[in-house]
Amino acid sequence: MSQSQETLSNLLQETRRFAPPAELAETANVTAEAYEEANADRLGFWARQADRLTWSKRWDTVLDWSNPPFAKWFVGGELNVAYNCVDRHVEAGLGDRVAYHWEGEPGDTRTITYAELQREVSKAANALLELGVRKGDRVAIYLPMIPELPISMLACARIGATHSVVFGGFSADALRTRINDAQAKVVITADGGFRRGKPSALKAIVDEALKDDSTPSVERVVVVRRTGEQIAENPRDVWWHDLVDRQSDQHTPEAFDAEHPLYILYTSGTTGKPKGILHTAGGYLTQVAYTHYAVFDLKPETDVYWCSADIGWVTGHSYIVYGPLANGATSVIYEGTPDTPHKGRWWEIIQKYKVTIFYTAPTAIRTFMKWGDDIPAQFDLSSLRVLGSVGEPINPEAYVWYRQHIGGGRCPVVDTWWQTETGAIMISPLPGVTAAKPGAAMRPLPGVVADVVDDQAQSVPNGGGGFLVLKEPWPAMLRTIWGDDERYVKTYWSRFDGLYFAGDGAKRDEDGDIWLLGRVDDVMLVSGHNISTTEVESALVSHPKVAEAAVVGSTDPVTGQAIVAFVIPRGSAGEEVEGEGFVAELRDHVAKTLGPIAKPRQIMIVPELPKTRSGKIMRRLLRDVAENRSLGDVTTLTDSSVMDLIRAKLPSAKPED
Ligand code: WT7
Repeated sequence: MSQSQETLSNLLQETRRFAPPAELAETANVTAEAYEEANADRLGFWARQADRLTWSKRWDTVLDWSNPPFAKWFVGGELNVAYNCVDRHVEAGLGDRVAYHWEGEPGDTRTITYAELQREVSKAANALLELGVRKGDRVAIYLPMIPELPISMLACARIGATHSVVFGGFSADALRTRINDAQAKVVITADGGFRRGKPSALKAIVDEALKDDSTPSVERVVVVRRTGEQIAENPRDVWWHDLVDRQSDQHTPEAFDAEHPLYILYTSGTTGKPKGILHTAGGYLTQVAYTHYAVFDLKPETDVYWCSADIGWVTGHSYIVYGPLANGATSVIYEGTPDTPHKGRWWEIIQKYKVTIFYTAPTAIRTFMKWGDDIPAQFDLSSLRVLGSVGEPINPEAYVWYRQHIGGGRCPVVDTWWQTETGAIMISPLPGVTAAKPGAAMRPLPGVVADVVDDQAQSVPNGGGGFLVLKEPWPAMLRTIWGDDERYVKTYWSRFDGLYFAGDGAKRDEDGDIWLLGRVDDVMLVSGHNISTTEVESALVSHPKVAEAAVVGSTDPVTGQAIVAFVIPRGSAGEEVEGEGFVAELRDHVAKTLGPIAKPRQIMIVPELPKTRSGKIMRRLLRDVAENRSLGDVTTLTDSSVMDLIRAKLPSAKPED
């Protein structure tokens, strides 16, 4: 099927379906039977997935849910996460298999086999022990995308220390808040990393975060030399190469309880201080390993897998580090940005390493659409066989573009819905089973019980919309918010009695398939109709000249809220997009696609959209622009000059009605 130019009808009337390729369906790791198996005995199903790991002591009880919403999975079981991710593959004779093909932004590379990873992780574990880190202590990790990042995480897991990775793009204030909340004893950082062709400092930010004794828990700072730039040295600092290189590469892992805290990862959320999402060892590793095997159909002997996320986000924790390594996969890690030194860098990496499975985000896909089809066309992407998407709803048009221009029309695209809190993928097609619809996350995975409910927690019928909830505990679920059980209960389990509310709106179509509609705060109320920003954005992106769109509700005296859209034209659209005619064409296009009620009051043609560092559109800022307010906090923006660019465009974007 090649229909990327076909105009969409309403999302719910989306008729395109992409069946699994015959060969994949025949050889898939997971077949349709898995759903039946899990329905018949959910806990038995998860116990069988846990059995794919190596346990030092088997569990007595699969799930203890006697004190909801505080779950205990694989009660009484003991395992070592790092052993499962590294040593057991070496013991199985796979020491020479590549764990990571690492590619630095400047073009330097490093290939790390499982045997080497075992030695590196053992040395780092011995180093942490020398610094006095013990089971249960917290270690903050603030590193660029270099091998020392997964090595540090695994070293913590190996000795039972709980890591808290802070994304390298965060400010000193954000780092300090997270260090203090977790009471980290050690910070692991680097002099800097490479981004957009230049060294970008990290150690200076750590110094700022730690200054004037503002982080009393921190005893030592370990510094990796990456860029070679000058750094200020402090008595508490120690170079990684001075400390780690001289350690023994032998370390015997100890088994920890299945519920031992593996890591804390902070999500910022819209209000209040960041929430430290706590994940524990056994259930988390079980579900990330299973989902990585099932959703990507991973064949560890032959696949080369690449997830383009930063390890500083949960996607990187679960699907660059823990899931792939638990499965013995060969992965690619890339340090830098997709446009350095040229806009084909990612496709060049896929060509170079013959990547077979690729996992990225809609925001990246839309950027590539904007840059133009001719860029990926210059590279050999024929090794690819499965493509994944995560982070936001994927607009059907972006899905079809991804399938066509990256997947050559032959690779299934799996749209995977999950959250930092869920720890692992929850709703997604299975590439060998599902005839996927572009833009739909489709069905809960085997062993996951999700539903779309109304205000009263009643399941909505097919064709209805409401709130996405999870009805049964799952192995990789967050166990609490670090240090704040009450906030955990209040944030996730109080909106609907006994149900986990994810914060997302969703629809179930006539076939019963699930479409995510974005955060519920992003639903607009226009003349009494609920309209999701995602639907209008997808309608706009289905126009052949539109690369990306963001939609917000702006207060309107007549309709309550009115729809305001910000649109980035496609690279190939050229001059035609400047005039009034183009805006009128787009408004008509939305009216035709979704109905006249969804016609935007105003459309602004802009060069960029404001995004968080994890790639989510900051609608709050756009709402401020739409309502002519002064801008709120822009500190989490990737690039605050974007808002100036949008402001500069304002005069040409006058209301249409
Ligand atoms: C929120 C969670 C999960 C890793 C990255 C984000 C949105 C995520 C999808 C998807 C529609 C999605 C949701 C969710 N989201 N994936 N496939 N379709 N929406 O993790 O930062 O914790 O964000 O991202 O709104 O609640 P996160």
